[in-house]
Amino acid sequence: MSESAPAKGLYIKTYGCQMNVYDSERMADVLAPLGYGVVDDPAKADLVVLNTCHIREKATEKVYSELGVIKRLKQEKAQAGSAMTIAVAGCVAQAEGEEIMRRQPAVDLVVGPQAYHQLPELIARAHRARGERLAADFAAEEKFDALPTERRASGVTAFLTVQEGCDKFCTFCVVPYTRGAEWSRAPEAIEAEARSLAEAGVREVTLLGQNVNAYAADGLTLAGLVRRLAKIPGLDRIRYTTSHPKDMGEDLIAAHGEVEALMPYLHLPVQAGSDKILRAMNRAHSAESYLKLVEKIRAARPDIALSGDFIVGFPGETEADFEKTLQIVRDAGYASAFSFKYSRRPGTPAAALPGQIPDEVKEERLARLQALLDEQQRAFNLAQEGRTLPVLFEKPGRHPGQIIGRSPYLQSVHVSAPDRLIGQIVPVKIASAARNSLAGELAMETA
Ligand code: 5AD
Ligand code: SF4
Repeated sequence: MSESAPAKGLYIKTYGCQMNVYDSERMADVLAPLGYGVVDDPAKADLVVLNTCHIREKATEKVYSELGVIKRLKQEKAQAGSAMTIAVAGCVAQAEGEEIMRRQPAVDLVVGPQAYHQLPELIARAHRARGERLAADFAAEEKFDALPTERRASGVTAFLTVQEGCDKFCTFCVVPYTRGAEWSRAPEAIEAEARSLAEAGVREVTLLGQNVNAYAADGLTLAGLVRRLAKIPGLDRIRYTTSHPKDMGEDLIAAHGEVEALMPYLHLPVQAGSDKILRAMNRAHSAESYLKLVEKIRAARPDIALSGDFIVGFPGETEADFEKTLQIVRDAGYASAFSFKYSRRPGTPAAALPGQIPDEVKEERLARLQALLDEQQRAFNLAQEGRTLPVLFEKPGRHPGQIIGRSPYLQSVHVSAPDRLIGQIVPVKIASAARNSLAGELAMETA
């Protein structure tokens, strides 16, 4: 062990979306100067942070059951004469901070997604008196100002938050309430962070935002930001997620055809295929306008891999409505997708709608939708067989002598190749495809 081993152990468990993954990394950055180093076992931790997700009921319930486990570890530590601090961060913290403290008294502090730059102060306060917290802070700007610009990137790919919050108010969704209004970070700050990542060896960056294509700062749109970041030496691949169809601007569509670093992959959720349901969801687009948009995007970048999110069993969804969801999947064609049973979230408009759908019906519809989406994903992967794709190698594989990377379409690619290729983009001839990954071999001798 080196002498610089961290004085205090920090265990962070992350739930939910990629923005939480980013936030967890930044929490570690904020806590490092206090002597906290990340450990992979909560039993070894002085500070446990659960970075939580509130999007569906299941995600929220997971947090409470994990807290039960962590509480027992805290008791064991106390018996052994040492202390553990438990912090709940993220969207459950934002939405039900007080409820958490009531349901699980072992929790020392609760911190919302816009307040985690105050973790050092909150921890100090919690050590003095249990029960102080900061749950309802919406000033994303302050948070980013307080975070270090330097990123301690450890891999080949990284997330970078450029936009937060959502003003769309889809009637099923808690995000506008947990993450607040749409807000975009200044381009200079984003560029500085991206440069620091590239200098640390990152080759691919994924720009994050709840509505990332609504990005607007200093007269710059997301397309402008992408063009600016594409100039950074070493940053060869740029992705972004998640997008709303309404904010898919002409310039962003054009960028997909023009900016080499912008990868041919687009996560563009439609949620449902029936106009009646889309209206009830307050989605601000129809099935037809979505399909027209996809057509336009494919005109700019014909090989783009389209990805989406779907909800089945939204209140009032009939069998005929659901079949329209299957139809839009067939018409749009997806390379990958996430699909969910509607989850009734307290405080959202849809929770109060009549016509809530029984769970068995949701279950059955989800199975049919997923069978279709799986079939499409398989077909998209199979279509790569025999092609040669540039693969960015990220990490060693499970089998010795194997390394894993990603295709431009975000598919996992397994190749027998030396570890020294990790961090490089190398042409790979795709030999076979499965549902979730591709396998291939190096298309040329590497020096
Ligand atoms: N129930 C089910 N799925 C939901 N999502 C958001 N809110 C809900 C909910 N109440 C899904 C949407 C969104 C994704 C991140 O989660 O499909 O795009
Ligand atoms: Fe939620 Fe809709 Fe905003 Fe996406 S666009 S975060 S689904 S409210």
